[in-house]
Amino acid sequence: MKSSLSVNHLLGIKGLQLRDVELILATADTFKDVLNRPIKKVPSLRDLTIANLFFENSTRTRLSFELAEKRLSADVVNFTSSSSSVTKGETLIDTVNNILAMKVDMVVMRHPSPGAAAFLSQHVRSRIVNAGDGTHEHPTQALLDAFSIREKLGSVKGKKVVIIGDILHSRVALSNIFCLQLLGAEVMVCGPTTLIPKYISELGVRVEHNLRKALQWCDVANVLRIQLERQDIKYFPSLREYTMLFGINKALLDSLDKQIVIMHPGPINRGVEITSDVADSEHSIILDQVENGVAVRMAVLYLLAGKNEK
Ligand code: CP
Repeated sequence: MKSSLSVNHLLGIKGLQLRDVELILATADTFKDVLNRPIKKVPSLRDLTIANLFFENSTRTRLSFELAEKRLSADVVNFTSSSSSVTKGETLIDTVNNILAMKVDMVVMRHPSPGAAAFLSQHVRSRIVNAGDGTHEHPTQALLDAFSIREKLGSVKGKKVVIIGDILHSRVALSNIFCLQLLGAEVMVCGPTTLIPKYISELGVRVEHNLRKALQWCDVANVLRIQLERQDIKYFPSLREYTMLFGINKALLDSLDKQIVIMHPGPINRGVEITSDVADSEHSIILDQVENGVAVRMAVLYLLAGKNEK
C-alpha cells in the first residue's frame, strides 16, 4: 500500500482516490490501537501547531479534531468566529493569514459556505482540512462512518447502505455517497421527495421513498437529522408527520426479517428521526462512530503533515 496521500489538503471525499481512503483507514487502525493503550499519546506531530477554525457550531467534530491533535502531540489553538474579529468585518483570508503568521502549520476549518475550504486552500500557504463546509462535504465524517461499518461488518465492499432523511441539506450524505461508492458499497437514499435533490440519481444511488422497503433492503441505515437551520422554506407539513413516515423506531426494526446496523452522525433529535430505544440499542454504533472519529482524524492529520512542503 502507498504511504502518501495523493492530495495536499482534505477538502472532500470527491478529490480522493480509493488508495487514499484505504491508506487513511489503515492508518486509523494503527491509531485506534494507540488510543486503547494506557498512554494514548504519540510524538508524531510534536513540532506542529494546528489551528481549529470553527465558523459554525460543533460538538463532536471540534472536540474530536482537538483530541486527535493532542494525541499526536501537536500544539493546538482554537478559534470560534462568534468571539473573533470576524464580527468586526475581517475577511476569511485575512483571518487565516494572521493566524498563520503566528507560525501555525495546518488549519482545520468548519464554515457555513460550500467551497470555503477549497477557496482557502487556493489563497493561503497551509494544509487545509475541511471539517464541514455548508451543505457540501464533511469528509472526515464519511471516513469515520466507513471505518465504523468496516469495523462492525468486516468490510464496506458489497454492503448495502441507506442514508435516511434530509439529503438535500446534508454534507454528511454527499461525502458518505462518494466514500461508500469508492469502497464498493451500494448506496440508497430515502426521505421525502422534497428533501432528495433532483441530481441524486446521477450519482449512481438508488432512491426510495418508502422507509420500510429501504430498511428491508439495507445492511446499514445511516439516519440523518432534519437540518431546520438550513431550511428557508417548509419541505414537509410537520415534524410529527415526518416522524410518522421517516422516523426509525423499535417496532419498525422488529418487524423486519433481519437485523440492520444503525448509524447517526449526530447531533440526534431523539423522537424525531430516531427513537431513544433505537439510538441506544445494541444495533446502534453511534458512539462507536464518535470513538472512531478521533483515530480517523489522527490518521488524516498525520498523513497530511507527512506530505512534502507545499
Ligand atoms: N457529526 C458532526 O459533524 O457533529 P458536530 O456538528 O457536533 O461536529
